[in-house]
Amino acid sequence: MNETPDKQLFLTSLVDKVREIAARPQETDEKLFSVCKLLKDNVPYYNWVGFYLLDQPRELALGPFVGEPTEHGRISFGTGLCGQAAERKETIIVQDVSQEANYLSCSPKVKSEIIVPIFKTGELVGVLDIDSYARAPFTEEDRAFLETIGEIVSALYQNH
Ligand code: SME
Repeated sequence: MNETPDKQLFLTSLVDKVREIAARPQETDEKLFSVCKLLKDNVPYYNWVGFYLLDQPRELALGPFVGEPTEHGRISFGTGLCGQAAERKETIIVQDVSQEANYLSCSPKVKSEIIVPIFKTGELVGVLDIDSYARAPFTEEDRAFLETIGEIVSALYQNH
């Protein structure tokens, strides 16, 4: 899937499904898991999809995810790609993780990764992390799409 109107249309159709999940009368973790599953099941190069949620002032804890189990249950700010995205409060795209020194490997199959910070009233509440077994699959469409999803799920944090 390259940068085509088709890709944008397809990702936009998933945004509506994420809104439907967010509106369900379920616990936040259950909804976050459903969002992970929706993304992994529908985008062929999203091979691990999960949330790391702010737990301590400068530490993330693994939340709902879909994909291979990971040994990285807790990640400090600044450490690995998730910790860097949390510290910088910016989306990070790494098209080839073998070139990245500050990286925590989940699986040797992973070639690329995108991490999108999630904010609630301007404060970081977590990150959405996606690993791909493809090299360089992520485009600006993925960034815009996943940042929109971050905004939708941040509304689930009202009573968190
Ligand atoms: N690769 C991430 C760690 C999380 S796993 O990919 C699930 C990182 O460098 O922060």
